[in-house]
Amino acid sequence: MHQKVTKIGVLTSGGDSPGMNACVRAVVRTAIHHGLEAYGIIRGYAGMIEDDIQDMNSRSVANIIQRGGTILKTARCPEFLLPEGRKKAYDNLKKRGINGLVIVGGDGSFHGAQIFSNEFDIPCIGIPGTIDKDIAGTDFTIGFDTAVNTAVRAIDKIRDTADAHDRLFIIEVMGRDAGYIALHSGIATGAEHILIPERKTDMQALIRSLKEKEKRQKLVNLVVVAEGDDFGGGNEVAKTIKEQLPNADIRVAILGHIQRGGSPTCLDRLIASRMGYHAVECLVEGRHNVMVGIVNNKMHYTPLDNAVKAKQKISDEWMKIVKILAS
Ligand code: F6P
Repeated sequence: MHQKVTKIGVLTSGGDSPGMNACVRAVVRTAIHHGLEAYGIIRGYAGMIEDDIQDMNSRSVANIIQRGGTILKTARCPEFLLPEGRKKAYDNLKKRGINGLVIVGGDGSFHGAQIFSNEFDIPCIGIPGTIDKDIAGTDFTIGFDTAVNTAVRAIDKIRDTADAHDRLFIIEVMGRDAGYIALHSGIATGAEHILIPERKTDMQALIRSLKEKEKRQKLVNLVVVAEGDDFGGGNEVAKTIKEQLPNADIRVAILGHIQRGGSPTCLDRLIASRMGYHAVECLVEGRHNVMVGIVNNKMHYTPLDNAVKAKQKISDEWMKIVKILAS
């Protein structure tokens, strides 16, 4: 049995995502509401190991709900994968009496949390914070909506110039090995083709379709490629198309890290606030080692173990819609 949680540490881990600050704010203020102490752990698990931990109060999280990035900073921390690293981290929590953790991050961060909790009897709550939307047990991950909206604004601009020059643009978006940013931003911008890792890319079919469009003088085409697509990224795709369509005027745009920054959208602020609040409620109520998600607009709790392994699925319906609307 875990002891009653009285002091909560909160950290952001892995790649940052817009809305993490809104989430930290919710965790700290809900903890204070319950009369608990709150601590901010700097640079994720690295700060736990290096004892970079700060007291937080209501004022420490003022004026951050609208800011991208994370005031707690973040890092990927290989040392936490080792038992000695985790022991150091535990000692630093213990000396302050921190006996509950909220981890905002992706599946790798939850994996670390699960191991840590098994070893040291510290309850951990995960909150999905990643632009990739690659975690099962939730319809939303903090930052995805902002990243998609950033991509949409960029792709709309690219279409203006593509249209002016009758060009074929290959646009690479982020998502690691998930295709959600590509799928959503591609549909929302009317992209002619969308390549995602969840479906095998048929390059010959894509080239046939572009050749057929060339014949009917439809020269403006946007191909949105997820960075993790099995065929390769934007440059690979462009090279192969150019070999077979030598007359096409092709440009590549790799949107990159602009997708990770910026002020979070209203949706990301809302889900971040809701998840942060419920993470603390979980610790108070003794619902431990779960990831807090939202499914069908209701809170949904997934054991950290399962949040680690599973990935969201892309439905065939979406793929059908892409095909019909982009013809
Ligand atoms: O997981 C978020 C993400 O932005 C991925 O979409 C991308 O593949 C990766 O992180 C980039 O990581 P880094 O910032 O370390 O280059």
